[in-house]
Amino acid sequence: MSSLADKRILLGVSGGIAAYKSADLVRRLQDRGASVRVVMTAGAQEFVRPLTFQALSGNPVHTDLLDPAAEAAMGHIELAKWADLILIAPASASVMARLAAGMADDLLSTLCLASEAPLILAPAMNQAMWRHPATQANAQTLNARGVSLLGPGAGSQACGDIGPGRMLEPLDIVARLIDTIAPEQVLKGKRVAITAGPTREALDPVRYLSNHSSGKMGFAIAEAATRAGAEVTLIAGPVRLATPAGVTRVDVVSTDDMHRAANEAADHCDIFIAAAAVVDFRPARVAAQKIKKEDGNDTDVLQLTKNPDIVADIAGRSALRPFVVGFAAETEKVLEHARGKLQRKHLDMIIANDVSNPEGGFNSDRNQVIVIDGSSEQTLPAALKTELAKQLVGIIAERAFGGH
Ligand code: C5P
Repeated sequence: MSSLADKRILLGVSGGIAAYKSADLVRRLQDRGASVRVVMTAGAQEFVRPLTFQALSGNPVHTDLLDPAAEAAMGHIELAKWADLILIAPASASVMARLAAGMADDLLSTLCLASEAPLILAPAMNQAMWRHPATQANAQTLNARGVSLLGPGAGSQACGDIGPGRMLEPLDIVARLIDTIAPEQVLKGKRVAITAGPTREALDPVRYLSNHSSGKMGFAIAEAATRAGAEVTLIAGPVRLATPAGVTRVDVVSTDDMHRAANEAADHCDIFIAAAAVVDFRPARVAAQKIKKEDGNDTDVLQLTKNPDIVADIAGRSALRPFVVGFAAETEKVLEHARGKLQRKHLDMIIANDVSNPEGGFNSDRNQVIVIDGSSEQTLPAALKTELAKQLVGIIAERAFGGH
């Protein structure tokens, strides 16, 4: 694990009982070489006194936007520029809402708006508040803006409830923080090809058959694999997503196009990940002109032809065969169907998800998956696809190369 040597971390502490754990967090960050300055919201000061953080960080604690004395020592813009990264722990529901809305109504929110440093949150709140659609929407807004969320964990809460919303333990926050800013290079020097999004099969020049795949999972894996050191080729069906930095993107439309591009990429890759929702059948004939409803037929029979199975072809190779990972989007008997696909398609690993589950699936920013290989099954708790992607990359690297 790399360290935080010479990193200047602005630690934002907001109101919540978990604020007491952040005193220890200051120490743990310093243990890894970081210098820490603390900003407390008014709420945080109800739980822990600024003096505690001042003594631990060795620096004055910043509390007010409009305090002339504090501004004279280090103004808020200076402080925003000083930070290499901003970590808010605990991040309350209120802080998340204010950041999502771009408010600048206290020192912490102003600093976040004024700083270009990466922003990382460790949320902590009551389980019902965390689960509330408003908080979930704020989490997604922030995540889409590049903010990383560490946790929350689940378990018993100070209020007596049980569920998600506990702040992660300080050591866990430090480990995940390091992983977020400098992910372990588990795929260094490896080449990874990923299919993502739907395919589209033309019926005539204006109509097509397709599905609801958004491509989010495949794109998130492409980004995580790149950050883990891989050289990534992303073969994308028609989706509205930006190409992650450093990724080579090949845009395709039909299954045949995706098949060709995937085979080409698979010749030169160590890992092939099929996250695309490929259309299984295509029209046997594509009409040269738009099919007209005035042609006399009230009903018509659509003749379909089976498309090639891209992942099965690549997994069935006898030479130049990469480590092959498939996805199984199911609506029932998830495990049974996924295991069947793992065997039938000769995959090394399959990642199964229940697309009827409101916690994930097509178009959602979240997902809940089970990772299955020949010998084991591992359920990963529901999380943002971006977070899941990081975990999946770690698991795939471990299985493909034993962590080397
Ligand atoms: O469609 P199905 O549920 O069989 O998809 C399982 C896996 O196979 C997925 O990883 C998907 O990307 C892949 N697949 C493929 N080519 C197809 C159909 C599915 O690569 N024609």
